[in-house]
Amino acid sequence: MEVKPVEDLPIRATPDDLASVNLADPQTFADYDLTDFWRTLRANQPLYRHPAVGNNPGFWVLSRYADIVDLYRDNATFTSERGNVLITLLGDGDSAAGKMVPVTDGQRHKELRNVLLKAFSPRVLSRIGEHVRRTTRTLLAEAIDRGEGDFALDVASKIPMATICDLLGVPGQDREYMLSLTKSAISSDDQGEYSEAADAARNEILQYFVGMVEERRAAPRDDVVSVLAGSTIDGEFLSEDEIVLNCYSLILGGDATSRLAMIDAVHSFGANPDQWASFKRGDVSVKPATEEVLRWASPTMHFGRTAVRDVEIHGTRIKKGEVVTVWNVSGNRDESVFADPDRFLIDRSPNKHIAFGHGPHFCIGAYLARLEISEMLLALRDFTAGFEIVGPVQRIYSNLLTGISSLPVRFEPVSAELEELVL
Ligand code: HEM
Repeated sequence: MEVKPVEDLPIRATPDDLASVNLADPQTFADYDLTDFWRTLRANQPLYRHPAVGNNPGFWVLSRYADIVDLYRDNATFTSERGNVLITLLGDGDSAAGKMVPVTDGQRHKELRNVLLKAFSPRVLSRIGEHVRRTTRTLLAEAIDRGEGDFALDVASKIPMATICDLLGVPGQDREYMLSLTKSAISSDDQGEYSEAADAARNEILQYFVGMVEERRAAPRDDVVSVLAGSTIDGEFLSEDEIVLNCYSLILGGDATSRLAMIDAVHSFGANPDQWASFKRGDVSVKPATEEVLRWASPTMHFGRTAVRDVEIHGTRIKKGEVVTVWNVSGNRDESVFADPDRFLIDRSPNKHIAFGHGPHFCIGAYLARLEISEMLLALRDFTAGFEIVGPVQRIYSNLLTGISSLPVRFEPVSAELEELVL
């Protein structure tokens, strides 16, 4: 069996009236395919003023690759300390500012980031690599054995969470609980329960780590929580808030993003059987395929900043205090950077996508995410002769993340090799 082509997701084309597209509303992404919207902005309104809607103030939107990279680079003019995603930027800011790495700037950002980088050192990650490989192969082999199932639920949802929990030192019996909390903390599969459930889930995650920090202070182990609890900056230990908030950031940043990229990989191969055939034959190696999965999926659609002084972009004055958002989903389809940007082409080269952002806040988990995605691609190549998306596909509900929460798939195993390869 080859990969059978899938129908595209049932979402409508962009409305003609650009101002009616509310980028702060998760429903917009559930309803529309915004490919044309982004193409129009890149061509005609590279600095777009998004209108105020309801209680939300207006904000600026950058859609071109070069502008996005420039903004990411300049954290002296554009700060993350008043939030780095729409939900906080348009609300009351981020209460973790100055303590949690993604929403900290200046000297403290450098220092805290260095502590996190130490916790993600090659020594730690090399130990994790073998584990990721084994978990991925076992879960995929089991799914293929069953023949049919939900790839998102049965396979993809179990890998990044298990990996990040291993790194942090969260024990096995708490992982299902963590997974359900993180799912509601940043997005919801069910429309309507967005905000309150998310707040409650965030608090529960933080409380969980408060308990862990106390334990690790008393008895350190070989895990990230112990590294954070034992680290000092200028002779001072990190505060409990700093440790707990950065654990929270790792678990949120490290789970959904990689999970959505893996699910998107299977869906995209399903939609592009020629690309699967060429990957399966070994015409294209796993490295460029992984980069194209990342560009194509762009799981984090946007990030944002607040201007700390008046500044000009494309001849327009951005005032101090105004919010500027950058849309990775658009930058990664910029026709001035990528040839044939709206095609999923696994041998794309060069492929300098911005799925992981750019500059001082460049994703700390990029190496780990690449490892997880490439192990999944290799396992698919080794274990399946082909697969079929048997639908219906369900999308997540979010204005930050994009992707699929349910992907029913029927797999065909690679005959007898399977059992041997698993072990
Ligand atoms: C930062 C995307 C996986 C942890 C970022 C940023 C992006 C991003 C775009 C920049 C945010 C900004 O500039 O405001 C992704 C994607 C991933 C992924 C697409 C997977 C496909 C991970 C993983 C981890 C992680 C696996 C941790 C284990 C972080 C952290 C930051 C970050 C801590 C903040 C870095 C800083 O502010 O200095 N990520 N990420 N990410 N990511 Fe990831």
